[in-house]
Amino acid sequence: MRNAHLTINHQALLHNVAQIKRYAPQSKVMAMVKADAYGHGAVVVSNIIKNHVDALGVAFLAEAIALREAGIHCPIAILEGVFSTNELDLAFKHDCYLVVHQQAQVDFLSQYAGNKKTLIWLKVDSGMHRLGFTPQDITSAYTQLRALPCVHDIILTSHFACADDLGSPKTSQQLQVLDELTKQLPPLARSFANSAAILAWPQTHHQWVRAGIMLYGSSPFANKTAHDFNLQAVMTLKTQLIAIQHLKQGETVGYGSTWQAQRDTRLGVIAIGYGDGYPRHLLPNTPVLVNGQKTVIIGRVSMDMITVDLTDIEAQIGDDVTLWGEGLSADTIANSANTISYELFCQITQRVTRFIA
Ligand SMILES: Cc1ncc(COP(=O)(O)O)c(C=O)c1O
Repeated sequence: MRNAHLTINHQALLHNVAQIKRYAPQSKVMAMVKADAYGHGAVVVSNIIKNHVDALGVAFLAEAIALREAGIHCPIAILEGVFSTNELDLAFKHDCYLVVHQQAQVDFLSQYAGNKKTLIWLKVDSGMHRLGFTPQDITSAYTQLRALPCVHDIILTSHFACADDLGSPKTSQQLQVLDELTKQLPPLARSFANSAAILAWPQTHHQWVRAGIMLYGSSPFANKTAHDFNLQAVMTLKTQLIAIQHLKQGETVGYGSTWQAQRDTRLGVIAIGYGDGYPRHLLPNTPVLVNGQKTVIIGRVSMDMITVDLTDIEAQIGDDVTLWGEGLSADTIANSANTISYELFCQITQRVTRFIA
């Protein structure tokens, strides 16, 4: 049987929740489980953390309904809000918190004829320029929402563009916009911080933080590791060694014959590839662990298989191979693939078997 599999580490997830609370001890925690919990499995992750966080965050209504249908009853916030009155009715039916970032969403709420109430996350665009009311329009949106019987309370929310870049002036600029704005509104609970802000911008924590990548044990910063923040990898991606080849110096490996042996080489074939979501484009010398020993990928990643250098390590067919996770940071592989761990996690495909440990 093919053995490409990933394991979700239950203890690591709870450890990371505790770390979020350690960094933001005064704040409530929204745990981001959108995009199938960053590829970790939204139902699995939500069940593990639901009694340890204050809300779950999803991107859109269907993600929230899927969690409700799986029996998850804790608060769930829909970060893009709803896009019709029909969606609004469903969101109320499923007791969701709603982000409101544009006038149409205020209008849907004003047409709501039911008797439920919810918590509204009023979103201001403080400089990310993706979603949100302009600072000029926020007071009007706030006043309209306040008057609606279905609005239980209002939280002011915004998102940072560059909180992961400590050299950028952008976060301070956004904070200035937000400071000005809070003077213009009555006192409101606030939610601004993502993982990078939780870790590096304590002045942004306020009443609610929204933690994503740090929950899964990765660092949001290019120059700092998860270890620096005492975060533990939640997902470990593994497979097995399925063949060993002996190459003479000068022979080449794989599609395009892009790698040529500089010496006689013992080569291992491992059962995983881009068809499983492992990235195809990598820098030379991307690491893997074979039986816990570090070695490197050689040749092109193909759909089902990857070739690795076994010349300097002990290895035999059937050996366990770690692609990332425990013992090998996903951030290292993300770096090598010119991406971020968020994308690596989200790209794992259905044919990879999943376990919870
Ligand atoms: C609005 C919003 N808040 C919070 C987060 C969490 O970000 P991170 O995973 O960097 O903690 C995201 C993630 O994309 C988001 O879109």
